Amino acid sequence: MDNQKVILITGCSSGFGLLTAVRLAGKGHLVWATMRDLTRKQSLENELAKRNAQAVIRELDVTKPFTIKNVIEEIQKTHGIIDVLINNAGYGIGGFFEDLSEEEIRSQMEVNFFGVQNVCREVIPLMRKRSRGKIINISSIAGQVASPCLGAYNVSKWALEAFSESLYFELALFGISVCIVEPGSYPTNIFTQNAHYAGNFDNAQSPYFLFSQKLKNLAQNNTKKLKRDPDDVARLIEDIVNNSKPRLRYVSDLSSWSRMIAQKILPPRLVLYIFRKIVDADK
Ligand SMILES: NC(=O)c1ccc[n+]([C@@H]2O[C@H](COP(=O)([O-])OP(=O)(O)OC[C@H]3O[C@@H](n4cnc5c(N)ncnc54)[C@H](OP(=O)(O)O)[C@@H]3O)[C@@H](O)[C@H]2O)c1
Repeated sequence: MDNQKVILITGCSSGFGLLTAVRLAGKGHLVWATMRDLTRKQSLENELAKRNAQAVIRELDVTKPFTIKNVIEEIQKTHGIIDVLINNAGYGIGGFFEDLSEEEIRSQMEVNFFGVQNVCREVIPLMRKRSRGKIINISSIAGQVASPCLGAYNVSKWALEAFSESLYFELALFGISVCIVEPGSYPTNIFTQNAHYAGNFDNAQSPYFLFSQKLKNLAQNNTKKLKRDPDDVARLIEDIVNNSKPRLRYVSDLSSWSRMIAQKILPPRLVLYIFRKIVDADK
């Protein structure tokens, strides 16, 4: 194919990572689809087979630098280059600050923030040598505006946003682009099998118990009603891969963008009023 690229993606066992890997492999790119647990590779293999597409599937846990080094060494031996890195792996932990342990917050940072840095640390030197390459970091609108009961996730994505923005300026000096993708809510495993909650989330003694249960139910109901297609995010990522002059930021869709902008421009007291209406209702 014309313009075939060597693409490394993290977190391909499900969701955006899987869909992006399948989409890009289906278009003829040389995709290295990685996941931390290879026993979960069946869904990816099935989807690749449906599209008659091929990808190299390897183990990579963003919190384990040796797994990152192994994959990069193999890519180097095979192709000598990496054109595109897609930092997708991540999860979100729900819980009010006082219900979260320090360890839970640190683990969230280890994956969503330090995990991205771990992979970038290995890939950037390869791109810098060629003065070309593209890094696409999957953030969230939660990386722009914060919500109650999601603070640890917000912090991890806000940190990722700042890191990515700083890197955008630094790496432009070497011809490398950095892009941030900010999806709103999409029905993937992040809200189901992969959902994480603070250890104290379901502790009836917690002063936050009633609020967190209400928010959990609300989130679960809203997730069931979500009509958005996660493949739209994969399509957006594909557009960024093909764009020779990509922007720094991409919000996934108009309604997510509107929700984000509304929270940015509304006075926090008004947002608080709406939040109280939600959690205080029939208290
Ligand atoms: N879905 C949404 O509404 C939404 C919105 C905004 C942003 N995002 C972001 O989009 C990205 C993908 O999430 P998703 O919605 O596609 O959820 P998902 O289906 O749960 O996929 C998350 C992927 O990340 C992997 N992962 C978790 N910890 C990892 C680690 N230490 N090393 C390597 N891989 C790891 C998971 O692997 P396992 O299967 O082994 O757990 C899984 O493959 C995340 O960064 C998330 O924050 C999602």
